[in-house]
Amino acid sequence: MNIWAVIVAAGKGERLGSYKPLIKIGDKYMLEYSVETISKSNKIEGIVVVCLSNYIQFIRELLKKYDLVKYVVPGGKLRQDSVRKGILKVPETAEFVLVHDAARPFVSVDIIERSINAAVQKGSCVVCVGVNDTVKRVEDGFIKETLDRDSIFLAQTPQIFKRKELLEAFENAILKRLVFTDESSLMEFHGIRPFVVLGDNSNMKITYPQDLELVKNFINSDVD
Ligand code: CTP
Ligand code: MG
Repeated sequence: MNIWAVIVAAGKGERLGSYKPLIKIGDKYMLEYSVETISKSNKIEGIVVVCLSNYIQFIRELLKKYDLVKYVVPGGKLRQDSVRKGILKVPETAEFVLVHDAARPFVSVDIIERSINAAVQKGSCVVCVGVNDTVKRVEDGFIKETLDRDSIFLAQTPQIFKRKELLEAFENAILKRLVFTDESSLMEFHGIRPFVVLGDNSNMKITYPQDLELVKNFINSDVD
């Protein structure tokens, strides 16, 4: 099975206050963590990294040592623009594309392998985690109802879809000027029901400065 990965790293990191992919975590940049982990999967044929255009030369140099990284390209204004730009570099021979956020540096080889296996079997997959808190629907500042948390999941990345279906869905979204915050919601709109693969909370997304404190504890090392 021919599978490529697209790692999106073209966000500005506004909530964190700096460009996340080039934050140093221990002895590596944040971006290198997911590139390295995805490179370890022998099921991936190539990786496209999508980054902010200001850093493209630096990142090309940085990632030279990762043989699977075939393209480093600039992103777009919205996350979905960046994902689409990455997928456009994936060769037509690729049947599946695994999309991953560079802002989730601690994705494991196990999650990558399990999600690839699931996508190949089920046609698509989204890594999700369950919720531990009781979940409420709120309207006008008051709780309206309590949801059945057994059926609530939080979507992470990786998310894996067929390259052709994903591109068609993107073209359709562009025509209709629709914005989706992940590939799953794009594909749900397109009539696909993605299969859920259970991930874990170590695959956290770095969004706010306080998340870097969690990272320090997680890797027991400095972050700057
Ligand atoms: N992303 C991207 N292109 C964009 C926006 C986001 O490639 N135009 C990527 C980010 O680099 C990140 C992932 O999508 O790996 C998830 O986005 P988010 O966590 O929101 O990161 P940022 O957009 O960088 O952060 P912020 O929204 O605070 O600016
Ligand atoms: Mg963002």
